[in-house]
Amino acid sequence: MSSAPADIETVLSRHFARRHCVLTNRGTTALAAALHALDRPVGSRALFPAVMCSIPVFAARFAGWAPAFADVNLTDANFDLNSVEQAINGGGVGAVVPVHMFGKPDNMDGLAALCDRHQIDLVEDVALSMGAEYRGRPTGSFGRISCLSFVRKMLPLEMGGAVLTDDSRLAERARTFVDGWTPEDASRRSETSAAMKAFHTLTGYVAAGDWSRGALLAPFEGEFRRLLLASTSQADWESSIVLDELKKLPDVLQARRARAEVYENALGENGIQALDRSGSSLFAYPVRLPGVEVENFLAFSSNRGYTFKRIAYPDIHPVFSPRESFANAATVEREVIGLPLDDDQPVSAFWEYAADFRRAVEDFLAAVPTLPPFDGRGKLELRMGGS
Ligand SMILES: Cc1ncc(COP(=O)(O)O)c(C=O)c1O
Repeated sequence: MSSAPADIETVLSRHFARRHCVLTNRGTTALAAALHALDRPVGSRALFPAVMCSIPVFAARFAGWAPAFADVNLTDANFDLNSVEQAINGGGVGAVVPVHMFGKPDNMDGLAALCDRHQIDLVEDVALSMGAEYRGRPTGSFGRISCLSFVRKMLPLEMGGAVLTDDSRLAERARTFVDGWTPEDASRRSETSAAMKAFHTLTGYVAAGDWSRGALLAPFEGEFRRLLLASTSQADWESSIVLDELKKLPDVLQARRARAEVYENALGENGIQALDRSGSSLFAYPVRLPGVEVENFLAFSSNRGYTFKRIAYPDIHPVFSPRESFANAATVEREVIGLPLDDDQPVSAFWEYAADFRRAVEDFLAAVPTLPPFDGRGKLELRMGGS
């Protein structure tokens, strides 16, 4: 089905129960446009969870914001409310940006209450959670403004994103921001993923202690601005299948739930703790291996012929701001692994994958006393860079 951009905006507004929708070339531009639209003084702080993908942080900086971070919790790897409150009390925070980690909605009531009390804007990043629900409402319908991404996450598209809001002035400012960029050159999209990989690899070396390379991080900002921010054209949307994919989303979610059920039954609880996934879009199935460094476990299993994918994000806060002691973020980075749910494989394949995973964890736990010390610093970033 082909559609005019205005029709797509109408469908998305209705789907997320918002009055306005502004289409963008991708989620990054949606976040930059949303934060620009809020019209806070340059240098206001946008508060992110410490564990997440780094691209939204660049989006905030493109819009003139200073990134700031709060710790996460160990229940679902979203914001730790106490840490959010502490950061707010530190001053200068103009926006709080939950990312609904692994697709699981953050505590929107708790965040909204804090934001209301301090006159801070709540900005939802819905990239990982399209299809998720919190108290019967879709993520994307909360806060002052929210941002969608259609690119290779819950929707399998190569372009697209959107800003959603009930405030017509915000929508107008977001649209002006988006229209101000030049159209994207689709033939250069491969450069984007190459630049992201190079960035993750570099942060991996820095996280492992090679601070001499820290100065190399700055040029990525200019590179990402050039690659990520763009306007879109009528033709981009006429060929887009975003509405077809949106219609398929309930079936996609149903299939993911079935696979999650398989994991839950096959993994057991011996040394493997599932994170809370209530209402989640199930972007991944996150489990924690308490006391285990996941990268050590993966190195061990790979030596025994097992290949497990790790969907997870590092604690990025020291890359963008002074290092703080976020104990839970460090634990999530070290001990949490998101298992894949997005395959076209039959459900039985997930059963085998989970059984192998459980066996490998048991073998690892039995072997731990005999293993040499392992230094996991930077390994997750390197994994993201290399994949
Ligand atoms: C949580 C989150 N938000 C936003 C983005 C950016 O979205 P896009 O890739 O559509 O620019 C990403 C990924 O890059 C992400 O992981």
